[in-house]
Amino acid sequence: MMIISIMNLKGGIGKTTTTVNLGYLIAEKQNKRVLIIDNDPQGNASSFFQIQKTNDKNLPQIFTEVMDGSILPIIPQHTQYKRVDILTSDMNLSTCNIELSKQKTDKQLNLYKNIIENIVQHYDVILIDNAPNITPLTVSALLASNKVIIPVEADKLSIDGANEVINQITEANRAGFNELRLGGILFTKFNKRARVDNETFKYVKNGQLTGGIKHKVYDTAIRHTVKVKEATFSRKPLEFACKNSNAACDYRKLLEEI
Ligand SMILES: Nc1ncnc2c1ncn2[C@@H]1O[C@H](COP(=O)(O)OP(=O)(O)O)[C@@H](O)[C@H]1O
Ligand SMILES: [Mg+2]
Repeated sequence: MMIISIMNLKGGIGKTTTTVNLGYLIAEKQNKRVLIIDNDPQGNASSFFQIQKTNDKNLPQIFTEVMDGSILPIIPQHTQYKRVDILTSDMNLSTCNIELSKQKTDKQLNLYKNIIENIVQHYDVILIDNAPNITPLTVSALLASNKVIIPVEADKLSIDGANEVINQITEANRAGFNELRLGGILFTKFNKRARVDNETFKYVKNGQLTGGIKHKVYDTAIRHTVKVKEATFSRKPLEFACKNSNAACDYRKLLEEI
């Protein structure tokens, strides 16, 4: 069972794009049952999948009930893609964070674990698209994960954000959460012709930008491709919107590395 958090404290660097496209590809190419959890009040992953209105509860509603002590069946929603389900979110997720911060620490930390335990048997891979900040909910999601993918752009702020996530992983390991591992750092919006992009890649790979420690960097960098923006507008996986684009090829290649 693979529970992967996609996380960086920097916004706009391709976390949601990576989550939804990997989710689609894992289901389609590897025949696995995928659950996407939208752990961001912005709800970008949720709006990507055009879910029919149903009575099924979204993630903030589920959290609210679980925090009130209910044990409920959790029913993720089907998306229009085979084997891809989602737990959707909206702005109310911020209220959950405030409520959660008033609760006991172990209740905060275990919230995600409890929710995932309830549904884990239905899925092969769970992908959590995280908000770009450290909140009780993002920490709880990290602690329920066994792998973290950190998307980065080749810029200083994005690498700083990655280092913060790596610190969180180290702290979690120290606190006894030993299953949590860095899957790898994933370069996105990559421009192969820009010297700064190539140098940043090299410096991250040899540890120069990560405190002297060499972390796993995926060999596949997702190239900057204007078509990705168009695909985001049309709310389609790259496999549908622009199958032959550089970014679509890169995500397919990345699938073999994760
Ligand atoms: N490889 C890429 N090439 C070009 N644009 C991209 C690429 N990856 C993401 N984008 C665009 O960047 C914007 C932010 O991406 P998003 O995945 O929502 O970031 P995050 O979830 O980290 O905030 C979106 O408009 C998206 O279409
Ligand atoms: Mg996002």
